[in-house]
Amino acid sequence: MLTSGGDAPGMNALIRSVVRTASAHDISVLGIRRGYSGLINGDILEMSARSVDGIIRRGGTILYTARCKDMLTEEGQQKAADTCRYLGIDGLICCGGDGTFRGAQALSRKGVPCIGVPGTIDNDIVCTDYTIGFDTACNTAIECIDKLRDTMQSHERCSVVEVMGRRAGHLALQVGCAVGATAICLPERELDFDVDIVEKMRIGRIKGRNHHIIIVAEGYGSAQEVADQIHEATGIDTRVTILGHIQRGGSPTAQDRVMATRMGHAAVEALIAGKTNRVIVQDKSRVTDLDIEEGLSLKKDLDQSLFEAQQTVAI
Ligand code: F6P
Repeated sequence: MLTSGGDAPGMNALIRSVVRTASAHDISVLGIRRGYSGLINGDILEMSARSVDGIIRRGGTILYTARCKDMLTEEGQQKAADTCRYLGIDGLICCGGDGTFRGAQALSRKGVPCIGVPGTIDNDIVCTDYTIGFDTACNTAIECIDKLRDTMQSHERCSVVEVMGRRAGHLALQVGCAVGATAICLPERELDFDVDIVEKMRIGRIKGRNHHIIIVAEGYGSAQEVADQIHEATGIDTRVTILGHIQRGGSPTAQDRVMATRMGHAAVEALIAGKTNRVIVQDKSRVTDLDIEEGLSLKKDLDQSLFEAQQTVAI
């Protein structure tokens, strides 16, 4: 198995689940280091049920991860498939986001059975309700922003906080809702700066709120520009915080550990059942698998009812 793309808390819990499920079926597992780069270069280690002891609670990925440009080329894909044949790999489990799934799709086409598992803090994979790492990243961001709120309150300031999510606003919406943000700037929804931010802040002030939290999804644009605009329009002392990679670290939450365990188990069972070119997904409360193409086809929209609830409550 391999982990690829940005790491996500819960990837280690997934590795553990894959190794232990395979062991229970007397199947041996090779860990491929540094994602597809490791597959292309033969950077492999043997894993056993004991070698994954104690990793369920650890953030990051013990297999390391990388974004591999070579895997986008026909030559790289062929090398990766050749390594699989050379090492006698009967099936591959690849955890990551859409780039990872494209690699798995290419290998499936070359006859290497592949199962993708969604692991990204962005939760932006269209065919699955959940991606491993999302809950931990949300909780990490919430913890940081709660701390920011203390100091913003003391100084009666406005805090503009940029959260990750690449081109998607799922993380920003969830976090913004959970911290009681005054406004959330999302790539998926147009925002009227005067109505949705300035006016809300003005009403808040009248009602006695002396500080504000504004969340900016990184895919929306520059948090600094948003802060400058706010300061210019309101005169309120405003500070910017970019949470950055801290959101990708930390011990996984219960939800990520459990989901990773369920998905890892399902991925091994899918390979045993002879499936290939599939992605493990959460569909409501069910863990199942779908054609990888479905994970790549459309852009996942925001949870509209959560968006509406947040808009109503943030007054
Ligand atoms: O996809 C996960 C993610 O953390 C995104 O939210 C972010 O845009 C990107 O990865 C950052 O990538 P890197 O670790 O290469 O800076």
